[in-house]
Amino acid sequence: MLDIRKLLLFSVLLLPTSLWAQAPLSAAQVSQPPEWDKDLALNIPQDLNPDPHILEINLEAVVKEMEIMPGKKTPVWTYNGSLPGPLIKLNVGDRLIVHFTNKLPAPTSIHWHGLRIPNNMDGVPDMTQAMVQPGGQFTYDFVVPDAGTFWYHPHVDSAAQVGYGLYAPLVVEDPAAPKIPGDELILMFSDMSLDDKGQLQEPKAGGRFGDLFGREGTVILVNGKVMPTLQMRKGKQQRWRVINASRTRYFTLRYKRSPLAIVGGDGGLAERTRTVDEIKLVPAERYDFVFTPPDAPNTDGKFRWYPTDRGYGSTYNRLAEDIMNIRTVNEPAVTPEPVPQQLRKIVSLDTKGAKERTLNLTIGYDKDENVSMGINGVHYKDAAPFMAKVGQTEVWTLRNDTDFSHPFHMHGFFFQVLGTTDPLLWKDTVDVPQHSVVKIALKFDDRPGMWMFHCHILDHAEVGMMGHLHLER
Ligand code: C2O
Ligand code: CU
Repeated sequence: MLDIRKLLLFSVLLLPTSLWAQAPLSAAQVSQPPEWDKDLALNIPQDLNPDPHILEINLEAVVKEMEIMPGKKTPVWTYNGSLPGPLIKLNVGDRLIVHFTNKLPAPTSIHWHGLRIPNNMDGVPDMTQAMVQPGGQFTYDFVVPDAGTFWYHPHVDSAAQVGYGLYAPLVVEDPAAPKIPGDELILMFSDMSLDDKGQLQEPKAGGRFGDLFGREGTVILVNGKVMPTLQMRKGKQQRWRVINASRTRYFTLRYKRSPLAIVGGDGGLAERTRTVDEIKLVPAERYDFVFTPPDAPNTDGKFRWYPTDRGYGSTYNRLAEDIMNIRTVNEPAVTPEPVPQQLRKIVSLDTKGAKERTLNLTIGYDKDENVSMGINGVHYKDAAPFMAKVGQTEVWTLRNDTDFSHPFHMHGFFFQVLGTTDPLLWKDTVDVPQHSVVKIALKFDDRPGMWMFHCHILDHAEVGMMGHLHLER
């Protein structure tokens, strides 16, 4: 005989339990898959200083043989023998001390891209310091004033040296910032020009056309690797800080048009979150976004690079390329955590009474018919500095009447891009597309000295598209 009371009791116990067991976990309750980022791991330098607010490291620029292409040895120019160089990670207000030694066969220096530090730490030879000769040393020592995703690279012969592998990330965190969901992953996108034996191509390969077009590498690298694998779990968010460290290549990136919630860029958090389905990163630019793994468990996908129209012939006959494997592990999906929408208060610079300047980004030829680029038609070696005053706000009109796009970078100061509807964001690098005008506003705080600005297609900077600003008290 069936005992109806027992059956009722049994079903009452069973029903809620089984429902509960099927409800997905929240992303906050699970971890990333084991070794999820192992292909992309960055080198962490040893801290020589016991003070928790000081990071003191040794950094060596040195040539190291690496296997970039399978079975081939490439003499990569590295910081501390790794590609990218060591990740420098700090909190706002921390002090960084870098004992730098140059073991390269050429002079070099380190520029701390995007950091608002004193002029004598900016790493520009013959302006802020002497070049560090082979065998020579220099100590960089400064406090990091802003949170954000930055990077460091040489400022001597930079097209060649950055192209050979000298680049590394620097991330500054603000412990008081709103909590953004997702485990952090720092991705440096780059490329390298190798021949079929794995040897580095001549920095001036391609001659005049190489100067004009800029030199894109033959292999695309993600944290120094060709086609690394990143593991994820459906719904478990990752926070990607992406940096374009290539000398010329633009990166338009997407993953099956899945949403990317941009929370910040060059100079830290944006004012609010903006969701897109692809990211365009011009050389030296950074973005910071939350990526929500969209694929079903046990699926493989490809993160892809798309050609960007950055001027004459730049997309002609070119196809998208797979640059990273995305492996979604065989674990049940989890429910993503909400991404905060309001992130930070950023006040628009008051441009009333601002000093206005126009910078024409120009391309011409010198008397020997070499490509000669410049600002307002003047090659940087013939250029007089702009004069500016501490405390002054300026509006710069960046005019590009050439057939190529130019990613414009200002050293030492953040700017705001005017006339855009995107959420406010402090930037130090902005694309000026071919035949267009971009306006930026900047305010010079009290760090006098000689500050560079230039196109961050390093081949363009090398042939003259650079200038400098003399900031005085
Ligand atoms: Cu990353 Cu002078 O620049
Ligand atoms: Cu340019």
